[in-house]
Amino acid sequence: MAKKDKVLIFDTTLRDGEQAPGASMNQREKIEVAQALERLGVDIIEAGFPVISKGDFNSVHSVAKLARNAAVAGLARSVKNDIDAAAQALKPARHPRIHVFLATSKIHMEHKLRKTQDEIVQIAVDAVKYARKFTDDIEFSPEDASRSEKAFLYRVLEAVIKAGATTVNIPDTVGYAVPEQYGQLIIDIRNNVPNIGKAIISVHCHDDLGLSVANSLSAVKCGARQVECTINGIGERAGNTSMEEVVMALQTRQDYYGVMTGIKTTEICRTSRLVSKHTGFAVAPNKAVVGANAFRHEAGIHQDGVLKEPSTYEIMRPEDVGFTGLGLILGKHSGRAALKSRLKQLGISLNDEQLVKAFERFKDLSDKKKEVFDEDLIAIVEDDVREVKDVWALESLEVTSGTAIQPKVDVCLRSGGKLFTKVSTGDGPVDACYLAIDEITGLKGKLLNYNIQSVTQGKDAQGEVRVCVNFDGDKVTGIGASTDIIEASVKSYLNAVNKKCASIKGKLKISSIDFGLKP
Ligand code: KIV
Ligand code: ZN
Repeated sequence: MAKKDKVLIFDTTLRDGEQAPGASMNQREKIEVAQALERLGVDIIEAGFPVISKGDFNSVHSVAKLARNAAVAGLARSVKNDIDAAAQALKPARHPRIHVFLATSKIHMEHKLRKTQDEIVQIAVDAVKYARKFTDDIEFSPEDASRSEKAFLYRVLEAVIKAGATTVNIPDTVGYAVPEQYGQLIIDIRNNVPNIGKAIISVHCHDDLGLSVANSLSAVKCGARQVECTINGIGERAGNTSMEEVVMALQTRQDYYGVMTGIKTTEICRTSRLVSKHTGFAVAPNKAVVGANAFRHEAGIHQDGVLKEPSTYEIMRPEDVGFTGLGLILGKHSGRAALKSRLKQLGISLNDEQLVKAFERFKDLSDKKKEVFDEDLIAIVEDDVREVKDVWALESLEVTSGTAIQPKVDVCLRSGGKLFTKVSTGDGPVDACYLAIDEITGLKGKLLNYNIQSVTQGKDAQGEVRVCVNFDGDKVTGIGASTDIIEASVKSYLNAVNKKCASIKGKLKISSIDFGLKP
């Protein structure tokens, strides 16, 4: 059998993904994601845009230090200062890549850059030559390539390859492309850029028309050999190409695409969950590959078929993507050993202290809820075993709410062995609780994002709340779960408060929870 071509997976969850409004991650969270990406086997991790902020610089630097197998990329505009910052941040990397970009569409050149075609070619060439002083691995992106004049795009690509670019990326920056046309663009580039054989063609598609995955696949069919993508498809505006969808499409339809990737697909669901947790972006139940319903069959005919032969209605096996499903696992009478063993099967290992805490929560939950599913366990662990020490913990909560009265809450928090109580009113019970917490803690949080999702089905299901809160310009995410959704809301907000407190004290350290994600 002929050897299949490899398609490189360039993950930009930590750069373009993090540009999604409200999806900011702190450095520790970024490091955990980078570790997960390494386990997943991505070829390149784009870890940030170093010149943009100290935080981005440090993240790229930290990821550069930890990556063993993946190349680490830092983004830079085509200016020396950006390239210097990227080169500095990437210094510890085993395989550093500088990713330089410059817009080539008429719209961008005229209105944004105010440069002529000749000037653009010169700036791009100079930038690539300058970046080559620091590493041999240079990627060049003509921003808005899909709306660029083709002849000019060929000219730019030829020039940057000559200057030393080893990967040329063809961004569909605004998600304007459609699959046939975008695939044809890749063919045209292969036919019209004389030195194209010296570089890898990459694609980077946005999802404004919901076509990013289709466009990327079309490009692969037409010869692209690197796909830029993010976990859960997060990214600027409507997002990027979803890694899990592209990878599973290439794997499931190898008969059609005839290519392979180096991705260890069994790590997909766990990585998706981690990114969702850290960004606060819930995964829709019907999301392809990683949604809670992706392998659930509701129709009787389907259920009957799957029981007889899974391939009747399943084109991928759930275990191939690490989907743990809704296994009914533990009940009221299950012991600590059973909990530990099931968590281990889910890839979560806890130390003794963490296990005691998780077991208490599990017992509590199994009193309120007849059936405890894998998703419940994961929520308990994420909710209870904190990566930061709780400065503030919920002691008790009383809520009065209704259609004809103003919501009133009595929140009691514990900190340093003391209790702090505040009675507050608000637009709703959650608003009242958050106001009370702000009053007690002295922090002023602006809620940027609030998301609630039931962890499993059924009226007794736990609600999982994810928030993104802005504390003095610092965007912090929080997560909390409970069968009581107001309590879950409070816990998620307190999780964000505690992260903020930890970062104020400079005590934020790498999680002691081993989600099995460390390389
Ligand atoms: O969408 C885009 O054009 C980008 C480039 C920087 C590659 O993100
Ligand atoms: Zn982009």
